[in-house]
Amino acid sequence: MTSHRIALVPGDGIGREVTPAARAVLDAAGTRHGVRFRYDEFDWSCERYLAEGAMMPADGLDRVRHHDALFLGAVGAPGVPDHVSLWGLLIPLRRGFRQYVNLRPIRVFDGLESPVRGARDVDFVVVRENVEGEYSEIGGRLNRGLPGELAVQEAVFTRPGVTRVVDFALDLAARRRGKLTSATKSNGIVHTMPFWDEIVAERAAAKPEVDVESEHIDALAAKFVLDPGRYDVVVASNLFGDILSDLAAAVAGGIGLAPAANLNPEREFPSMFEPVHGSAPDIAGRGIANPIGAIWTAALLLDHLGHAEAAAGVEGALAAVLAKTRLRTPDLGGTATTVGFTRAVLDELGGAR
Ligand code: NAI
Ligand code: MG
Repeated sequence: MTSHRIALVPGDGIGREVTPAARAVLDAAGTRHGVRFRYDEFDWSCERYLAEGAMMPADGLDRVRHHDALFLGAVGAPGVPDHVSLWGLLIPLRRGFRQYVNLRPIRVFDGLESPVRGARDVDFVVVRENVEGEYSEIGGRLNRGLPGELAVQEAVFTRPGVTRVVDFALDLAARRRGKLTSATKSNGIVHTMPFWDEIVAERAAAKPEVDVESEHIDALAAKFVLDPGRYDVVVASNLFGDILSDLAAAVAGGIGLAPAANLNPEREFPSMFEPVHGSAPDIAGRGIANPIGAIWTAALLLDHLGHAEAAAGVEGALAAVLAKTRLRTPDLGGTATTVGFTRAVLDELGGAR
């Protein structure tokens, strides 16, 4: 039997409610497919920051370096600035473990209403560059408080950084429906975006079986809403990909549905799996968080560890519960609880609870 060691970081708020759902689904899928998971749980969170002054211990990365994967619920709490939770935990993990691909699939499941009228057959993946680009520490502020106060922040695009994420997206498109859309803004951002476009064109030439198009980010955002069914794989810089993937999640029915994987494709380091949503302090503690994003994220984890069939089984079980039942958490207009919905997915998976 294959065995994997998973580092679990439930985090804050509903992160702690959806992580057990993902874990139960991993165990059930593992039981069916001869895979055993062992978990080590870490309390890294804003709560820890408030008690101890740091989101995670100084040697945090070393403690999880040898795990096969990390699963993170969500971090964030009222009273802790968001840049603390981001730069104190998520970004060090993503960058320290060279997780340069942020993979965010989106589907409009049968049985779910998209807020976009007529959105059907929507099934695409946003590949977001995850370690460089617009989210950079290079820059500064001058003349604070004076009339001429100014702030400068540099975006950083490197040839290796753009090449590897574009290649990943091209390979993914080749395995799917053969279509790649690149998000650009080379009309307004005149240095980095033409550079991005040039590399996309070079790499696309090496993969003629993929049909590649470039779209300006503003027009692309509009088309995500007007015609989301036309996309297969979308590759974007860190900032553009961040915005597009939240928009895509909304088109699919809500942020609670959306999964994400932070991948180190070379497997030099563990990859990190986390639903797209945050800690949702407005509903935390009530047991009504939608577990779909976390459960789908568990499927991405299974796939990354080489269990494609188990992953497809989990996604299929989610789709089946949505198509066959009216079980929905309140964010989708229903009255189901996190546990109740998860139990239905487990039943669909074969009753291994
Ligand atoms: P959020 O995603 O936590 O919540 C936005 C809205 O969506 C809220 O109304 C919430 O109730 C709802 N929602 C989100 N996930 C849901 C789910 N699974 N089921 C049902 N409803 C759900 O984003 P927000 O409010 O901007 O941020 C809250 C905190 O989370 C902040 O501290 C923020 O920094 C943090 N955050 C953390 C992320 C992470 O850990 N990767 C990502 C985004 C935000
Ligand atoms: Mg985001």
